[in-house]
Amino acid sequence: MHIESVTLKNFRNYETRTVEFKDGLNIVIGKNASGKTNLLESVYVAGIGRSPRTNKYKEMIKWGSDYAYIKVILKKNKTTHTIEYSIDNQDKKRIAIDGIPLVRLSEILGMLNIVFFSPDEMKLVKESPVERRKFMDISLSQQNKNYFNALSKYNNIIAQRNKLLKEQKDSPALKEMLYGWDVQLADYGSIIISKRYEFVDKIKVFANKMHSEISENRENLTLEYECDVPCQDIENIKNIFFKKLQDNYEKDVSLQYTSFGCHRDDIAIKINNTDARKFASQGQQRTVALSLKLAEIYFFESETGEKPVLLLDDVLSELDGGRRKKLMELSMGLQTLITCTDFDEDVNHNLIRISND
Ligand SMILES: Nc1ncnc2c1ncn2[C@@H]1O[C@H](COP(=O)(O)OP(=O)(O)O)[C@@H](O)[C@H]1O
Ligand SMILES: [Mg+2]
Repeated sequence: MHIESVTLKNFRNYETRTVEFKDGLNIVIGKNASGKTNLLESVYVAGIGRSPRTNKYKEMIKWGSDYAYIKVILKKNKTTHTIEYSIDNQDKKRIAIDGIPLVRLSEILGMLNIVFFSPDEMKLVKESPVERRKFMDISLSQQNKNYFNALSKYNNIIAQRNKLLKEQKDSPALKEMLYGWDVQLADYGSIIISKRYEFVDKIKVFANKMHSEISENRENLTLEYECDVPCQDIENIKNIFFKKLQDNYEKDVSLQYTSFGCHRDDIAIKINNTDARKFASQGQQRTVALSLKLAEIYFFESETGEKPVLLLDDVLSELDGGRRKKLMELSMGLQTLITCTDFDEDVNHNLIRISND
């Protein structure tokens, strides 16, 4: 798929602006604070429904205005689609696809698939498991509505369950109250876990291929989904999940939170059999993050038959020549939007100049 144009009204520092993109490499160039990241952010919002950098939607409205509007025209399977997204100062979001309003924000997922890479993603390896779960969750939610629904329900139930564990810790009826939640947690949890096993299984082959190419065959990258429930069919995962919740009852009561479940899982990342989360050098961390993101592209393509749009915000300057070259090579086959302050690579590209004057 590829984006043909983005129109912004009162989005961040943009009053009104339409930017046209080509298939292949698009370089967004401009001084610091000119609005390059803002432009990529708007594309991300049209794809995922939320910002990669803030949970406060209203921050995206141009200061002094009372709404922000994004329109993306994209081509997918040779068909043109329009996504319109607006947000007003009451925090109300309105989304329409091809002119038809969506009932729920989350229905936007899957229309425009995005792989986003910014200096923040470089931390994927060393940061806490939260970041690695987010990586799986955002990717899977974009191409699987079931996954997204299971995840939202699961997170809600965990919040309710933890609230009960805190507020009703002395109640004799607590165990009974939790029972109903636990049945549902095991249900949704088993969907999440089985999809994540599949996800990691699929991306690991490609991620290792990328990683060994970038490291000139010196390093072997292995990925493994870390979960207390072993990989097996979904019915068994559900049963084990439920049993573990029951077994952990006393522990949860004393801790006052849910100590078991897929909200605590991780991806184990090893380079030449050593835990990269603990020991990877900065260069290695970057190579792994890059390999994971490039593997995500492959994953999208294998799941949906379409390549996603790759957004690279300010990452070129963080990569050395070899890694940069590899990234360029790989971003030839799909639409890529790259922001930078200067660009002198010898590759064919569409140049978009941004200025704030
Ligand atoms: N809601 C907003 N309204 C108006 N301007 C904003 C808003 N949010 C951020 N900005 C401005 O946008 C600019 C930063 O844009 P950004 O896309 O991050 O720049 P860069 O080109 O360096 O990536 C800053 O000048 C900031 O003040
Ligand atoms: Mg920026």
